Parts: sequence; structure tokens; C-alpha cells
Amino acid sequence: MDIKSLVRDIPDFPKPGILFRDITTLLRHPQGLRYTLDSLHQKCEAEGFNPDYIVGMESRGFLFAPALAYQLQAGFVPVRKPGKLPSSVHRVEYDLEYGSDALEVHQDAFGLGDRVLIVDDLLATGGTAKATAALVEQAGAEVLGFAFIIELRDLSGRTLLPEVPIVTLIEY
Ligand code: PRP
Ligand code: ADE
Repeated sequence: MDIKSLVRDIPDFPKPGILFRDITTLLRHPQGLRYTLDSLHQKCEAEGFNPDYIVGMESRGFLFAPALAYQLQAGFVPVRKPGKLPSSVHRVEYDLEYGSDALEVHQDAFGLGDRVLIVDDLLATGGTAKATAALVEQAGAEVLGFAFIIELRDLSGRTLLPEVPIVTLIEY
């Protein structure tokens, strides 16, 4: 199934010069959504990922990470924008393709040496995924790999990431 054709391109969003890859058109397509979730699961299994936890980043990572956690029989841990998590947090600042932000995770989300797979909708500059990996490592867990629906190859985000396997479904 050609899921790339279900992603909509929106020029100049959220800022002039950014070509926004809109996944809402993929999510609302019943067969497209199912194929996307099944493919993500299959590729992660083929890679041999056996995580204790799937980490998903707010907001769009939340659309895919819990479904993958269910399929891989792992737990789900949210990484959130600042000020949203109620207990003690680890925090990291990071740069975006169109701005900067910070991310937080609960300090007690992982045990020492827990195996973690990081999942998001899209890899652009890699700032978000790199920051998330740093959070997971700060918390004493091990990053097994990354999984993304979309990778924007021109931005070379994967060069920022630790040397672990990266699964992607759609490339631009
Ligand atoms: C988007 C996307 C990724 C990140 C990728 O999130 O969902 O998390 O950007 O960009 P990077 O590789 O350059 O870091 P965004 O911060 O726009 O937030 P959202 O998920 O709440 O829309
Ligand atoms: N997040 C970062 N860059 C993006 C892009 N070009 N399209 C959609 N989401 C993004």
C-alpha cells in the first residue's frame, strides 16, 4: 500500500519556507492507518527490538507509540513538553526545525538498564529524538533504537542520534 500518497504537503506551515508533512490525512484513512501501524510493528520485530518500554514524544509521538507498545507487549512512557508531568522530572532543552523547546520525563519512569524504543511520527533535524535519547539515558535506561513513520533525509537528523538501529516507513 502506498501510504506516502496519503501524507499531505502543506507549504509554509508553521513558518515560511517549511514544507509541512501532514499525517492527519494518513491517520483518517482506515486502511492507511492500519497498514502504517502493522508495518511499524513488523519492521520493529524484524529489527529484533524487544523493549521493556516504548517512549513517545508529545504530541504526535503519542499517536503511534501506545499502539506499538500494545503490539510489542511493552509499556508506554510519555515524554512531555515542560510543566505537564506531575511528579519529579528529568529535563532537556533542544532545537527544532522551526524553533526550540524542552522535554521532560518522570524520574521514576524507568529502572536501571531497562530497554527502551523511542517512537515519533517524524525525524527532521533530529533534535527531538536526540533530546529524548538523552532523557532516557539520564534516567538510567538503555536506548535500543528508534522508529519513525517519516524521515526527512535532507535534514540528516539520523547523524545526531546514537549508533542504534533506526526504523522508518516513509522517506523524503
Ligand atoms: C515535530 C514532530 C517531531 C519533531 C521532529 O514535533 O512530531 O517530534 O517535530 O523534528 P526534529 O527532528 O527537527 O526535532 P513538534 O515539536 O512540532 O510538536 P508536535 O508533535 O506537538 O506537533
Ligand atoms: N516536524 C519538524 N519538521 C516537520 C515537517 N517538515 N513536517 C511535519 N512535521 C515536522
